[in-house]
This record gives sequence, C-alpha cells and structure tokens, in this order.
Amino acid sequence: MAVARGEFSSKLGFILAASGSAVGLGNIWGFPTQAASNGGGAFLLVYLLLAFCLAFPALMAELVIGRHAKSNAVNALRLISTNRLSYHAGSITGYVGIITASLILCFYALVAGWMLSYFLAPLAELAGLQDISDWLTEFGLYRNILFMLIFMTLTVAIISRGVQEGIEKWSARLMPVLLVLLLLLIVYVLTLDGAMDGVKAYLIPDLSRITDLQLIISALGQAFFSLSLGVGTMLIYGSYISQKENLFHLGRIVTFVDIGIAVMAGLLILPAMYVAQNNGVVIFDAAGKLISEDTLIFTVLPALFDTMGDIGIIISFAFFVLMSIAALTSSISMLEVPVAYVVENHAVDRTRAAQGIGLVIALISTVIAFNFADLFSLTVHATTRFSQPLLGFVLCIFAGWLWHRNKVLAEIKEGYAEVEQSLFWKIWPPYIRYICPLSILAVFVQLAFYNL
Ligand code: PHE
Repeated sequence: MAVARGEFSSKLGFILAASGSAVGLGNIWGFPTQAASNGGGAFLLVYLLLAFCLAFPALMAELVIGRHAKSNAVNALRLISTNRLSYHAGSITGYVGIITASLILCFYALVAGWMLSYFLAPLAELAGLQDISDWLTEFGLYRNILFMLIFMTLTVAIISRGVQEGIEKWSARLMPVLLVLLLLLIVYVLTLDGAMDGVKAYLIPDLSRITDLQLIISALGQAFFSLSLGVGTMLIYGSYISQKENLFHLGRIVTFVDIGIAVMAGLLILPAMYVAQNNGVVIFDAAGKLISEDTLIFTVLPALFDTMGDIGIIISFAFFVLMSIAALTSSISMLEVPVAYVVENHAVDRTRAAQGIGLVIALISTVIAFNFADLFSLTVHATTRFSQPLLGFVLCIFAGWLWHRNKVLAEIKEGYAEVEQSLFWKIWPPYIRYICPLSILAVFVQLAFYNL
C-alpha cells in the first residue's frame, strides 16, 4: 500500500476536476430533459432546493471522509468504522461503489460515443462525405461500438497520467472551453423566434406542481447523479485535496458550478426545443407530453440546427463538442474509482490498472451494445436509480453516525480553523445524521415500490 499518492496541485485544480466530474451528460442532457418533462419552472425550483439542501451536505460528507482517509472508498470507510460489523459494511459499500462507478461508465461511454460521432458528422458533411455523415448519425451497432472504444481510449489515456498530469490538467483545459461554448450557444438560441416561450416555460414555475411526488423524486435523483455522489468519486477526489484547503469553501464552489451549468443548460435546451417547434418539429404529443425523451437531443436538436442553414453546421459541431467534453471530464472521474482502488490496495501500476479496467469496461459496454434493448436501460436504472441512492444513504450513515463527531470536526478544521462558529457547522451535522439519510431512503423506497 506504500504507493506515492497524487494530490491536486492547487485549489483551482481541484475545483476544475471536481466540477468536471459533476458536470456531465447528467447536467447538459439529463437536467433539461427532466425539467422539460416535469413542468419546467416547477422542476427547476425543487431541483435548486434539493441540490443545495440535500446534495451539497452529502457532497461535503464524501469530501471530508476522503480527505481524512487519504485513500479510496474501501479503505476510507474501513478506517472510520468502529466495529467489525461497520468494518465489513464499509468494505462492501466501497466495493459496490467501485462496481457501480464502473457500470455507470459502461453505459456512459456508449452515450458519450454518440456525442463524438455527432460532432464528427457535420465535419463529414462539410467535406462533402454525405454517406459517412449519414452513417455517423444512424444508431448502427458498429458505429456505437467504434465510438465507445474511441471514447474509452481517451478516458484511459487521461487516467493513466495520474492526478496532476491527467485529471487536473485536462479538466483545467476542457472546463473553460465548455463554459464559453455553452454561453455562446445560449446567446445564439435566445435570438431565435420561439425561444422566449421556452424561457417562460423554464423560468415561470407552475406552483401547483411543486408538491408532485414524482417531480420531487426525479429532482432529488438528478441532484445526486449530477454531483457524482454515492459511488466514491467525490470521496476519492477529496482524498487528493491538501490539508491546508478549506473543504467547505471548495465543496460550495463545486456545487455552485454544477448547479449553475445545469441551470444554464436548461436555458439552452428548453428555448431550443420551442424554437424547433416553431420551425415545425413535433416535440410534444397531443397530450402535451415530451416525445422520445431519451433521444430528444439526437432528433430535435439536429433538426433545429438543420433549419439554421450553414451556421447550423457550426452550431451542431459546437454543441456536440461541448457534450463530448462534458462527458470526458466525468468519465475520467468514474474510471478513477476502480483504478485508485487497484493501485492503492493491490500495488498495480497506474497505467496498467487504467488499461486493464478500461478494457473490461469496454467489453461490458460492447455486450450492452449488442443487447441494447435488453441491457441499456437496465444498466442505467440499476446504477442510477437503485445503487447510487442506496450508497449515498450508507455514506451519510458513516459520516453522521459511525464517525465520531469530534474527529469530523477536527478534519474540517484543517484549512478552516473557525468552522465551529460557522452556520455550516450548526446545520450540517444534524443534516447528515437525519435529513439526508431519511430523504434518500424515502427516494429509494419510492423507487423500489414504483419502478421495479
Ligand atoms: N455527474 C455526472 C454527470 O452529471 C455523472 C457521474 C455520476 C459522474 C457518478 C461520476 C460518478 O453526468
């Protein structure tokens, strides 16, 4: 276990890497789609409330545990456990987290591959290669597998380089590009006819819907998935933060960036949907329900871009580059979970670990691609709806009940000496003890009863 551990070189390095993990397909695609199908403004309101009040405290728990243990989730939870039972529960939670993160990557790599192929399609079109462009935008088996493999190769290459040279450097390069592209696209879309209907649907909440249980459950699940919680990603990123940094401050910034980008993505996608509708694309069925939620991005948006003439090709390219970047900074954080475990607990060389695990994930992904109808949504649901909330629940129990309060305080005091006098320290401990686990449990029970 005597492997030299990586550490983020600076505050900004951590912020970019952790926000890179948090900001992904979940924010830019998942959030706006869910907002559109769950009452627009009402969803936004509930999401904001839950993200700040529940997901943020859970993120803090992962960061504090991670930095204290300076290790992966398996070792970290063992370290703070108090007896044999909690020791084993900690190990199992860590392992389930590793498996969940890996399985999330299996489906994530397929979707990210679609993003890659969609950003190449306009280039092929510009080069006059219409056949290739068509092939790139048809959901064929070989295209899916090829682009999943390309995406996995990129992920493995970055993770092989380690914390500073890989994760930190690439997140620092990619995250600002993502932000600028997103802003430019929003400004452009808002100038188009019909966009204001989308802005209204998004920003004016229908207050009668905010008590809708289904809406609350979707918003909570979305908030946890979006902040990469439960699977040990934030725990391991927390373990790379130096003792002199203020964890509360860092966690707060990452939460703001994640929520901010989701909210901005909504400001792009919802108006874009209404612009497309204005241009004759059918988005809602007769009952006012969103058509083809999963593939909305691949049907509605290209249709929208097509109606823009030549500039549409550039916009389409920019949008899918944006999606690919967002996916890559998240996928590296997923692969880091099993890689850190194998490197730390089994003394395997980092590059070999990244390659070996990447290969296994690519193989499972290929199996999913071959049996898409049966396995794709099964994997998505099993990991995001089932495993993530349950893991989040256990992590709160560890931070709130098993780990001694004074030790938690001592850890947070590093880099934040006056924490005891802060509002955060008055609110957070009871939150992590009662409100977070109970809320996650409520979601989990609902999902178990209604969706299985
Ligand atoms: N937060 C990422 C997204 O929004 C997904 C993710 C989940 C990343 C779990 C890491 C771990 O797309």
